[in-house]
Amino acid sequence: MGTYSMQDVDALVADSLASVAALTSLDELRAHEAELDGKRSPFAVLQKTLGALEPDERREAGARLQAARATVREALDARRVALEADERVVRLTRDRLDLGDVVVTSVSAPLAAGHVGLVPSTQRALEDVFVAMGFTVADGPEVETDWYNFEALNIPPAHPARGMWDTFYVELGDPETVLMRTHTSPTQIHLMEEAVANGTLPIHSVMPGRCFRRDTPDARHLATFHQIEGLVVDRGISFADLAGVIETFTRAYFGSDIASRLRPAYFPFTEPSAEFEITCTICRGDGCRTCSQTGWIELGGCGMIDPAVFDAVGIDAREWSGFAFGFGIDRCAQMKHQIADMRALIDNDVRFLRQFA
Ligand code: PHE
Repeated sequence: MGTYSMQDVDALVADSLASVAALTSLDELRAHEAELDGKRSPFAVLQKTLGALEPDERREAGARLQAARATVREALDARRVALEADERVVRLTRDRLDLGDVVVTSVSAPLAAGHVGLVPSTQRALEDVFVAMGFTVADGPEVETDWYNFEALNIPPAHPARGMWDTFYVELGDPETVLMRTHTSPTQIHLMEEAVANGTLPIHSVMPGRCFRRDTPDARHLATFHQIEGLVVDRGISFADLAGVIETFTRAYFGSDIASRLRPAYFPFTEPSAEFEITCTICRGDGCRTCSQTGWIELGGCGMIDPAVFDAVGIDAREWSGFAFGFGIDRCAQMKHQIADMRALIDNDVRFLRQFA
């Protein structure tokens, strides 16, 4: 802006208003504010000349100057409001999200949902097979006393058969009295005790659950694993019923192309006892590392309830008879899906886990 005298105040106002109107952005407005209205403006310069005037003249000139300056300040404020509004529109337009893009983005990168693991889904499939055969499903504790895991199952303290189960003991009470169950068979004892107490015999139940053994994991074993126990206590039950149930189950779960066999075995709580095996699904019977070159994989054990077990729970063995079986759920998953090494089940490698979604 040039230099103005008091005579030029109208021209100063007109020039100032033109400059204000020419401002195109808030940055420009801020840069020129001081020249138009502030300390560096012609108004400030003129203000200083007023001191040399006579009092009357000074009052009149001061009033004109103030009014003129107020006009310019109002124009400046109005221009600021208008520019702010313009810039907000520009910003909103620039930042606006295209809703189409938002949808496409979220569809192209969906959050991965988890899924039921292979062992629980195998457990459910096995339960379904047995429920279809008329069994109910029961549950039992993972921490047991020596009585349930061993003694009531006809394995007295120091019996050599205890060596069949390497046991994790819990530091509770007297040494080696509380333990992590080494099999699901203790749940049989709970079920029989309850049925006797409530007068609800017969029993046709399966009992799935987690078991623990002080074993070194290898291709066929885990230290924490899962079994499903079966128990039938009724009148007139024979070994043929047991063999029929095992045969029906293996066909229903693995299909009729997988052979199964029972072989004589020993368990303290069943007599006679057997272990049942199926053709190794990894090598189809030829022999491989997983089945230790035998062509067969042991799924579990079974047999007729030993009268000593009936005695322990107070069931009259002259009236009732029954059978039990117990086999590995993890082993079933392994054979069903041809998993050469069972340790894959606990490695948590998502490339393995995802195959069973
Ligand atoms: N509890 C036995 C084991 O884990 C298996 C079994 C169950 C055998 C029921 C006979 C009857 O070794």
